[in-house]
Amino acid sequence: MCGIVGYIGTKDAYPILIKGLHRLEYRGYDSAGVSLINQGGDLVVYKAKGKVSALEQSVSDKDISGTIGIAHTRWATHGEPNATNAHPHYSQSHALSLVHNGIIENYKTLRVELEKNGIQFAGETDTEVLVQLIEYMQVTHQCDTVTAVHLALKNVVGAYAIAVLDKRNPNQLICARKGSPLIIGIGKGNDKAKPGESEFFLGSDATPIIEFTDKVIYLQDEEIAVLNRNGKHAITNLDSIKQTPQMHVLQMNLDELEKGGYPHFMLKEIYEQPNAIRTCMRGRIDPTNKDIILSGIRDNKEHFMRARRIIICACGTSWHSALIGKYFIEEAAHIPVEVEYASEFRYRNPVLDTSDVVIAISQSGETADTLAAIQLAKQHGCFVYGVCNVIGSSIPRNTDSGTYIHVGPEIGVASTKAFTGQLITLILFGLALAKEKNTLDEVLFHQLVDDLMLIPEKMQQTLEKTKGIEQFAKAFTYCKNFIYLGRGYNYPVALEGALKLKEISYIHAEGYPAAEMKHGPIALIDEEMPVVVIATKRGMLYDKIVSNIQEIKSRRGKIISVVTEGDTAVKSMSDYCIEIPDTRDSYAPLLAVIPLQVLSYYIAIAKGRNVDQPRNLAKSVTVE
Ligand code: F6R
Repeated sequence: MCGIVGYIGTKDAYPILIKGLHRLEYRGYDSAGVSLINQGGDLVVYKAKGKVSALEQSVSDKDISGTIGIAHTRWATHGEPNATNAHPHYSQSHALSLVHNGIIENYKTLRVELEKNGIQFAGETDTEVLVQLIEYMQVTHQCDTVTAVHLALKNVVGAYAIAVLDKRNPNQLICARKGSPLIIGIGKGNDKAKPGESEFFLGSDATPIIEFTDKVIYLQDEEIAVLNRNGKHAITNLDSIKQTPQMHVLQMNLDELEKGGYPHFMLKEIYEQPNAIRTCMRGRIDPTNKDIILSGIRDNKEHFMRARRIIICACGTSWHSALIGKYFIEEAAHIPVEVEYASEFRYRNPVLDTSDVVIAISQSGETADTLAAIQLAKQHGCFVYGVCNVIGSSIPRNTDSGTYIHVGPEIGVASTKAFTGQLITLILFGLALAKEKNTLDEVLFHQLVDDLMLIPEKMQQTLEKTKGIEQFAKAFTYCKNFIYLGRGYNYPVALEGALKLKEISYIHAEGYPAAEMKHGPIALIDEEMPVVVIATKRGMLYDKIVSNIQEIKSRRGKIISVVTEGDTAVKSMSDYCIEIPDTRDSYAPLLAVIPLQVLSYYIAIAKGRNVDQPRNLAKSVTVE
């Protein structure tokens, strides 16, 4: 959840590090810091509470020279967010500095041991234990820093991505990872074998690196890399055995990371959805033969054909898309689907066997609980399939097969286009499986494919219809609570709408299946309670939700509805109404969620919230 940047080369490190921190700020943002070996050979550390801009202000009169450095933006797990607990941390002698993502679980035991041996700590973080331990190993074993890093990491329980500077060796940057991602960018000059132009970049994801190079190495668990100024690098495992890394070419460009004229990444990402899902579908639908081409299923047919059930593990928004996926896959492919919170699944003793297929859904591909759920499923011999956005992230690398949603980088903390990309992918998955299992008749299958191809255009029309939301959203800034209701495929949309509102406006919101109101929540309804109802018009549930709305209306609740174009019944009962184009029930969530994203955005804006970086949240939750 925190962000790491590193640089070693011939250029000034500070501007590269600060720019990288700004790009990474979406991961965590309660404090930031930078460490450099400056021209005078001093190892300096500058830190500030707050955003990266606060750090920039605090160094305005400091020496920020130097061509090697590490930097960090923090989302606190241990120790309150302040400048002392911010990274980088010094070792006791100030010869080493270190940044860290992850959690050192045995830090208390290690700290007690180090304190017994006379080491004094400046702050409360688990990270400081790590840098002190490295120095302690160096002193007690009389070894170089790289060896000391190996020795220290062997004593550590937990997850880490670290970068270390050593004042006595300004020509090397040391980094390591276990359970927390770390990417090494290979500078363009390194190829030319001209030591004068060589450089390395380091990032906890690709965003701080992409501007400089597209050639990267994804460090693997328990690997330690030494990056030298002369362009050479060496990667070993914890037992000092040399590893041969694979070079990857990044498939994203800088434009995708910029706001492109929108005031916030979230709004940009909401508006990107029609094109994002076009990309998601590209090459996976054969329009001529009305077929679905999903190599992840085709190449692993035997696992899917013998599967007796599918279990989907995910967190947050991805869990909501899993619920919709369950409805669709069960309906299309006639296979039972269970949906689990990854955080619960990993600590239960689930009954699993080798015929189960487990699907892990994750935008970031780095969510710690989802990764742990995958490990558990693999221990039981299940076939594990990943649905992720970030290419090369940990989940795709730890699953047997899978499908990328290909919606491009999602920077806003509140997930939007990843949700609709996940839905499309799960629909494609359900259709591909139905085809293999022959569970749908051909006419219906072709209709489903045809209707799916119309969705990007209908999303565009939906966006047009959200124009009035900005104005009426202002009326709801005073509210302390919201209720969201939906039925069938639209029930998880209600959950997702409520989550969006909670996370960016800090208004309490709950999503319910509409018929559950009578069983308790209806007691909450009065003239102060806004109720958002998703009441799209197809199938038998429409009439039922009309009755549910009447129950709320008669208790003077305020109705904001999302209805199908041409609707009259719900519209006439609504205080505010947003129309969306008609589509089949199973595809309605793809459109219905858009007004809810827009509504939460404008309520949060009217309340003056920071929508891209809401308080207490981080984009990828790489700790439990
Ligand atoms: C909500 C949101 C989170 C994530 C959750 C899982 O807008 O973004 O609820 O959906 O943290 O993250 P991923 O999908 O990266 O595993």
